[in-house]
Amino acid sequence: MKGLLGFLVLIFVIGVSPSCMTLSPRSEKTGKPKLPQIIAHRGASAYAPENTLSSFRLAAEMQSEWFELDCTITKDKEIIICHDDTVDRTTNGKGRIQDMTLAELRELDAGQWKGNQFAGEHLPTLEEALDLAKHLSVGVYVEIKSCADDTTLMQQIKESLADNCHITSTTRKELLDRIAQAHTPNLELANLVVERIERKHMQKRVVIQSFSPIICLAAKKKAPNLRVEFLGAPKQADDWENFLWWGLVAGVDGFNPEHTTLTPAFLMTVHAMGKTVAVWTVDDEKAMKRYTNWGVDRIITNRPDICRQIIRNTSLSVSK
Ligand code: G3P
Ligand code: CA
Repeated sequence: MKGLLGFLVLIFVIGVSPSCMTLSPRSEKTGKPKLPQIIAHRGASAYAPENTLSSFRLAAEMQSEWFELDCTITKDKEIIICHDDTVDRTTNGKGRIQDMTLAELRELDAGQWKGNQFAGEHLPTLEEALDLAKHLSVGVYVEIKSCADDTTLMQQIKESLADNCHITSTTRKELLDRIAQAHTPNLELANLVVERIERKHMQKRVVIQSFSPIICLAAKKKAPNLRVEFLGAPKQADDWENFLWWGLVAGVDGFNPEHTTLTPAFLMTVHAMGKTVAVWTVDDEKAMKRYTNWGVDRIITNRPDICRQIIRNTSLSVSK
């Protein structure tokens, strides 16, 4: 951790301010402005019911490079797409997903709450969403929702590493053994999701993301060629330190912070580590413009059509 901490301190001492980052960075290869890609959050969810096939289709129509979805495990160990632990908010049913079978979940209407034109939409399975993405030629951000509380396990791991986040693959393998011994349901969930992605041969078109470092580590260990990114909402510099620490321990490829917590200094720090940044959830036009100018890699938004316009306008103005 000390090396990273030193680097962070240096960035703060240099004092990178937003005012010196108002021009889009240019690609080293082409010299053209480096523009962010769009990830449609739960699909184009400002306009269609979140996490449904309609919402994913609309995201592609609105020229998103990616759509994002949230997935979790059913009582009979299937992978279903839904943001919440329960179906209460986004379907006509009630109950906890972990207590329901896939067949029971598929009976529910997941569209009508958003408008009668969406009546009859189902909660999709992960396989259905992957098939659709392949058909539409778009990428998928698969967010794996934690299905267990791993706080104690995480504390034990942190203590045993004694602050060192620059770990070898052997140490990471030992950590995975430890995670397996703890019998956390999150390990089974991560493995099941990765297996489905591999079965569909979608490794190159999918990014796994999670707020759980345990899930990130398990997914990355199971499929080293699959991109894995770490979600977080770090507020203070200390939280950022912890966010970066866990991401490095898990071996992630990118850091995806809640957008208001990102500063140019942290963006530079993550890029200097050779990792990417995707910010969420950016629906405000000024914020879309700001992050485009800062040079984030991807913007996660409920309004992909608006974000496309902003990126297009920014690209026109910087190429003049
Ligand atoms: O993609 C980032 C974002 O989806 C994380 O938050 O609660 O919308 O899943 P949430
Ligand atoms: Ca999500």
